[in-house]
Amino acid sequence: MSNKKGERYCHLNVCFQDNIFSIMQYACVIEKYVGFCETDFGARLMTKEAAYLRNELKSRRKILDVGCGIGAFEQRLPELNIIGVDMSKEMIETARARTTNPYCLADATRLPFLDASFDALFYVTSLEFMDNYKRGIDEAVRVLARGGKLVAMVLNQESDYFKAHYSKRDSYFRRIRHKNPVEMADYIAQRFYVQTSYFLGIDAEEIFDTQDKRYASLFIIKGNKK
Ligand SMILES: C[S@@+](CC[C@H](N)C(=O)[O-])C[C@H]1O[C@@H](n2cnc3c(N)ncnc32)[C@H](O)[C@@H]1O
Repeated sequence: MSNKKGERYCHLNVCFQDNIFSIMQYACVIEKYVGFCETDFGARLMTKEAAYLRNELKSRRKILDVGCGIGAFEQRLPELNIIGVDMSKEMIETARARTTNPYCLADATRLPFLDASFDALFYVTSLEFMDNYKRGIDEAVRVLARGGKLVAMVLNQESDYFKAHYSKRDSYFRRIRHKNPVEMADYIAQRFYVQTSYFLGIDAEEIFDTQDKRYASLFIIKGNKK
């Protein structure tokens, strides 16, 4: 009996330590990301991404940001009516402290919203991090109204920028679960009229427009629901 108790205590203790470790790791990830957004390079990068989203979404009345992280786009697009969703409690808490937008702690594959309740939805470097992006897209199809717009900004893994970051042992990019954006575009194209393009050229700290795969840090998949 006592042996069993001992084993149980030991198991709980390991779980507790694992949990504390993952919370500390996450706090560190968030701190690093907030710090990056505040650098001159990070701010220029996000301003350019936000300008792209503003142009695509300005006429939409109710917008869902799936995998919203720390609310970087809610902060940069205050004129848009955006609800942010993320499955990380720490990300949602940070986002709530940064902007007054509504935020919801939820998994992209089980969204707590009614069918056809949004007229736009976007992912900025979040779709490729999901365990099951296809289920994420199926949920996007469900919550978007007919004609609703989807914009997915996905990391271009063929770019020099991606490769340089991925080579670092502690890079967040190593958490990516899906490596083929073209396959993602094909799946999305089953339910949306899709267009794809490359975006956000990066060379050292210079940011520019390009369609060159080597420099474009993002692959964009966008379209309206059929
Ligand atoms: C690289 S971060 C991008 C955050 C934000 N979109 C940005 O660009 O600042 C990826 C985010 O996706 C979230 N995420 C990953 N899988 C998810 C899922 N299944 N449901 C909701 N959020 C998810 C992570 O918690 C993380 O905040």
